[in-house]
Amino acid sequence: MFLEINGFRMAYESLGKGIPLLFIHGFPLNRRMWDPQMQSLSHHLRVLAPDLRGHGDSESVEGPCNLDMLADDCVKMLDALDIPQPAVVCGLSMGGYTTLAMYRRYPERIRGLILAATRAGADSPDGKANRDKAISQAEKDGAAATAASMLPKLMSPKTYKSNPDLIKQVERIMTSTSVTGIIGALESMKTRPDSTPYLGEITVPTLIIHGEDDQLIPFQEAQSMHAAIPGSTLVLISSAGHLPNLEQPELFNQAVDEFIEKL
Ligand code: MLT
Repeated sequence: MFLEINGFRMAYESLGKGIPLLFIHGFPLNRRMWDPQMQSLSHHLRVLAPDLRGHGDSESVEGPCNLDMLADDCVKMLDALDIPQPAVVCGLSMGGYTTLAMYRRYPERIRGLILAATRAGADSPDGKANRDKAISQAEKDGAAATAASMLPKLMSPKTYKSNPDLIKQVERIMTSTSVTGIIGALESMKTRPDSTPYLGEITVPTLIIHGEDDQLIPFQEAQSMHAAIPGSTLVLISSAGHLPNLEQPELFNQAVDEFIEKL
């Protein structure tokens, strides 16, 4: 399904009825990464998942891109679908950065936060330099090069052994991302503000989920967010790396279900 918002055609999925639960994908992925959640949780919730600009089936938008724009796109999507009531927002990694931007800008639109495989801090100077290198690589060699550099670290070593089909599926998703989308996402992550000072001001229920074998974002990041966000819950998923929702979908869905039941 498609919507025209903020000057581009956004692809999204919407299933089920009930409390709205918005899923925001990581980099350089798309809404398909939430398939195991969409199928299972749509039995009792209204689950929604957009492709962020330039990702999946959404159009690319030339020009500057930042996390506030991505957060605005998600809110515009809720508006266009006539969902004024606060939604639970679940973002993974870059989706988590977008979720925090959404909470900073539109706290009244959020009923609960699920921060998966993500961190609150901004990029370090080295991290910013690596974003520039990744931008040059994508410009020169395309999405396949971006995918090739990320794929070996995305999942748990156990997943590479046990689930080769998943590795291929994730690779297909990554290589389908447009170069404009990749560059916009890298710019957005590079320029994102430090959300750490705001964590203590979060007043909605918050669930933090992290894979125990995450090689991209250390578990300490999740522990620091848990310590800073009042009343938050932390769930560590075993035998999962940076994509716990795909590597261990049952455990991930169970954590989300238990969180939503308590809302
Ligand atoms: C992601 O998985 O969304 C990104 O790897 C996060 C990042 O690079 O900071």
